[in-house]
Amino acid sequence: MNVPEFDLHHHGDSEVGGGLVDLAVNVRLPTPPEWLRRELAAALDDLAAYPDPTAATAAVAARHERDLEEVLVTAGAAEAFTLLATALRPRHAVVVHPQFTEPEAALRAAGHDVERVVLTGPDFVLRPELVPEEADLVFVGNPTNPTSVLHSAAALRALARPGRLVVVDEAFLDAVPGEPESLAAQALPGVVVIRSLTKTWGIAGLRAGYLLGESTIVSRLRAVQPPWSVSTLAAVAVVACSRPTAVAEAEALAVAACHDRDHLVAGLRALNIDVIGDPQAPFVLIHLPGADKLRLRLRDAGYAVRRGDTFPGLSPEYLRIAVRDPATIDPFLTTLAHHLQAR
Ligand SMILES: Cc1ncc(COP(=O)(O)O)c(C=O)c1O
Repeated sequence: MNVPEFDLHHHGDSEVGGGLVDLAVNVRLPTPPEWLRRELAAALDDLAAYPDPTAATAAVAARHERDLEEVLVTAGAAEAFTLLATALRPRHAVVVHPQFTEPEAALRAAGHDVERVVLTGPDFVLRPELVPEEADLVFVGNPTNPTSVLHSAAALRALARPGRLVVVDEAFLDAVPGEPESLAAQALPGVVVIRSLTKTWGIAGLRAGYLLGESTIVSRLRAVQPPWSVSTLAAVAVVACSRPTAVAEAEALAVAACHDRDHLVAGLRALNIDVIGDPQAPFVLIHLPGADKLRLRLRDAGYAVRRGDTFPGLSPEYLRIAVRDPATIDPFLTTLAHHLQAR
């Protein structure tokens, strides 16, 4: 078994703290919205009972127009990776990188070998022909963390074939206005879609997400899911965040984030910084010789940005920057300009 030479468990949250301005973590709200806090608070009285995911499952099925049997509510998207790695016996698992590293970590922890298919710059766009024909399990992110690339639904569908399961991690797709290129509402054979609610709604500590797929796959994953792994409060959040009003609010947040991202990208490009591709997620990836040293200087100046070198396929010359409002980003850009000049 090949040994991963990257720290697959490194995440942006270990780069923040100490009073730093957080441009490293992709959770978008600093606290859950008031309406969600009220619903969570109201559910505290129900905590003596064991959790029941029935209402949450129905809410997700209605939100994506899928059958109940095609939905599995999970303790965040992260649990879905572990369930897939535990339930399946892939002969040839492929993870398309650069991407979020927990799917590969979950596969390896379950004892599976993993082949990395590495997309390359300058655009990091998915080329389905790079995935070997014999691959029977393929993980791909859309939009991809950390590249912010939104792959086309056609390219993702081109990965599917008999005898293969394609897992599309759509953890950030609710941050893309209109949710283009999503496969969530398409009941495609051999395709599983994973969603997260933790980023948009500021509930990473609550653990709420779900997956959508063929009923035969979903029932295999349900069989290995630990009992009661989705807590009562997480299930309440899934119901609340699946309502049409919440979906409309997520859409408005996504539109606002686009304006904020345009502002960030324009500011970076004005500093002659290479912003990768056509970013579609609430973070951007930059390529800059000396980025590793710059990151440390930015830390000294009070800003945490996400290092790129722990992502297979990237190097110390990459940094990921979270999209924030101009009031946060403008002083960051001023600081960045200062440190670029000082190099
Ligand atoms: C692409 C991607 N997928 C999944 C996750 C995990 O999401 P959750 O908090 O729902 O487990 C993350 C967290 O950073 C992520 O970046």
